[in-house]
Amino acid sequence: MDSSEKMEKIVSLAKRRGFVYPGSEIYGGLAGIWDYGPLGSDMLYNIKDLWWKKFVKGRDEIYGIASSVMMPQQVWSASGHLENFTDPLEGGKFNTMFKTKVGALKGETDDVYLRPELAQGMFVNFKNIIDSFHPKLPFGIAQIGRCFRNEISPRDFLFRVREFDLMEFEYFVRENDWEKYFEFWRKEMWGWIDEVGISKENVHELEVPKEDLAHYSKRTIDFEYDFPFGRKELYGLAYRTDHDLKNHKLDYHDEESKETFIPHVIEPTFGAGRTVLAILCDAYQEDEMGGEKRVFLKFKPQVAPVKAAVFPLLKNKLELVKKAREVYEMIRKQIQPVMFDDNGNIGKRYRRQDEIGTPFCVTIDFDTLEKDSVTIRDRDTGKQERVDTKDILVYIQERLR
Ligand code: GAP
Repeated sequence: MDSSEKMEKIVSLAKRRGFVYPGSEIYGGLAGIWDYGPLGSDMLYNIKDLWWKKFVKGRDEIYGIASSVMMPQQVWSASGHLENFTDPLEGGKFNTMFKTKVGALKGETDDVYLRPELAQGMFVNFKNIIDSFHPKLPFGIAQIGRCFRNEISPRDFLFRVREFDLMEFEYFVRENDWEKYFEFWRKEMWGWIDEVGISKENVHELEVPKEDLAHYSKRTIDFEYDFPFGRKELYGLAYRTDHDLKNHKLDYHDEESKETFIPHVIEPTFGAGRTVLAILCDAYQEDEMGGEKRVFLKFKPQVAPVKAAVFPLLKNKLELVKKAREVYEMIRKQIQPVMFDDNGNIGKRYRRQDEIGTPFCVTIDFDTLEKDSVTIRDRDTGKQERVDTKDILVYIQERLR
């Protein structure tokens, strides 16, 4: 399978099975705009949840916020985006921020911009966090949220879009410590790549050359991924110096040393849509099972949109269907989401779940009625294990962890 064929297959599966749809498709779609369907939004939610647990809830010194999408012109003027967030275009320079107005009355409206990055939300709340929590350095401010960029040529499915979710934090340190924390977060980013199920062999660091650095950065490492359409940026780690705090006229007072100074900033940034795309590219597999070709998504169970599926072996045997319903209800009280499927033969049901990456299929057969045990099938190997009904939850929960 060549790489463009692989991309076509992934895009087609994503649409057919409800991961990602072209935005406003019934009206012909809108370039660079995609909607997440039920399975895609569950997957996106799982990724954000894992990220928030690792980088915010799991740490004492990182404060989570959810700031506004619309921010006034002054913010973007201070940050340098008004001047620098541009793409060269024939006949002029083109700023890729979306501009709109707030207020209804003529003469009383204000220009605002939809944020092209989350970072400014963290900087404009820097003083609020200090006043509310009095954090000691180093500390961070994090958020997950939507960003907007009027990309001149959106392309490659979820890779370059005009509206996307970012997961990002600003980590405030003393200037002398920046290299130490840059290295620290570099390692943690590799840890995240592994945890979320992106294979490390497909990710490569690129030291961004000086002439290509963003206007705010003194050093940036891109984490590039081998997408089917080429090696491209997945995540970034930037040393933003004191650029933003200085331009917003913000500083920090150390209560112990009584010094007042401007902290420097390390910024790890993670595109959520690019994470979904990299995971889909890694997970997409084709093989042969039982003499038939099959397609399956080899997701890590933590990321998989559906955790388990429950089937009665036969649809027309009432006792099997009743027992399967009971098992399904028992599982979904603890683990969500779980699917119930009694449509078509059992082989077809396994294939349907393989194609959306469901790690476990629980089948209720005649032995279940006699011995109160079920079969649990592993998506990747197709192997089935007999498990007592009372042990199903523990069996699945252990593997989800
Ligand atoms: N605050 C820093 C910042 O926004 P960036 O490199 O411009 O840095 C951060 O963007 C991340 O956002 C990228 O590493 C990538 O994962 C994602 N990203 C950027 N532009 C994107 C686009 N047009 N579509 C999808 N994801 C994008």
